[in-house]
Amino acid sequence: QKGGFATFMEKEIHDQPTAVADTLRGRIDEKGRLQLDGGMIDEYVLKSIDKIIIVACGTASYAGLTARYAIEHWTRIPVEVELAHEFRYRDPIVSIKTLVVAVSQSGETMDTIMAVRHAQQQGATVIGVVNAQGSTIAREADAVLYTRAGPEIAVASTKAFLAQITAGYLLGIYLAELRGNKFPDEIEALLEQLDAIPAKVQRVLDASEPIRELARTMADERTVLFLGRHVGFPVALEGALKLKELAYIHAEGFAAGELKHGPIALVEEGQPVFIVLPSPRGRESLHSKVISNVQEVRARGARTFVIAEEGDTEADNYAEQVFYVPAAPVLMTPLLSVVPLQIFALELAAAKGYDVDQPRNLAKSVTVE
Ligand code: BG6
Repeated sequence: QKGGFATFMEKEIHDQPTAVADTLRGRIDEKGRLQLDGGMIDEYVLKSIDKIIIVACGTASYAGLTARYAIEHWTRIPVEVELAHEFRYRDPIVSIKTLVVAVSQSGETMDTIMAVRHAQQQGATVIGVVNAQGSTIAREADAVLYTRAGPEIAVASTKAFLAQITAGYLLGIYLAELRGNKFPDEIEALLEQLDAIPAKVQRVLDASEPIRELARTMADERTVLFLGRHVGFPVALEGALKLKELAYIHAEGFAAGELKHGPIALVEEGQPVFIVLPSPRGRESLHSKVISNVQEVRARGARTFVIAEEGDTEADNYAEQVFYVPAAPVLMTPLLSVVPLQIFALELAAAKGYDVDQPRNLAKSVTVE
């Protein structure tokens, strides 16, 4: 059942190349059209939407935050990402031109179900990005794009997260094609970039020993900070969430640009800080800005651990340790850079002797509001 691994969590982290590959398989037909799994949405409706709202909880909401960068960039449709339990209580502006995307591994999270119902009452079209076949959200949404991560048993989500990002990207590619934002060869190039991800995730897994070693030395830490910028920001949030959930260590993820507006006050001698370094090929100057953040926290005594892409050696000059992931186009990088952070949380929790599959106080799916 655990495929030779000690825990479901470890197995599911290793399932990630397959989860991404399966989520991609056969999804786009020769005309570039996305194959939705359940239900149909009239293309006319999808052509006329003027706003997308992604609703989700926990890790699924971070997948939504990640997908937003890609969907907005490719489609030029405004995308909001909202925690499902906040969504309906703020009287959100939803119309028949709103597409609501409900992201949920279980499809049974009551907060997300209630957000879906509220959106539908306001006339929105709802697509479920759901892992569990036939679940409530899958049944109630107007259409479903299943993540094909397979059953996820460990309470803390890993492979579903990568599959949710993948599905969100597929939706963005489809909408870009449908609405004429991209030429066919651009669509093809994006799909090829996604197709290259599973092998790269495998390489991250194969090279995970250094971060495991680090994790084993950090069982006594009281607090760990995570910084990221652009698509690295939701990765920082997810890295912090995994550490809270599994190792019961206080952890916070911050947008790196926010550092000087507050969080830097937390940094004192010996404070571990993980920094997800943007690709040097990304938005001009983001890389150097985050390199400056590494220097700023280091100058205040932080221990700096950087996730960087292979070939980008600049952080070597400033960080205590750099963990490399394969190079990829900027929007694809979260699918790689989050993996060492998942492994870090898993290994640290295991070093503390905790049950990584069933962390205290948490349920796999929260079916009450
Ligand atoms: C939480 C789980 O309660 O629900 C998280 O512990 C999960 O792991 C979150 O990310 C959302 O769940 P779902 O099933 O809606 O993706």
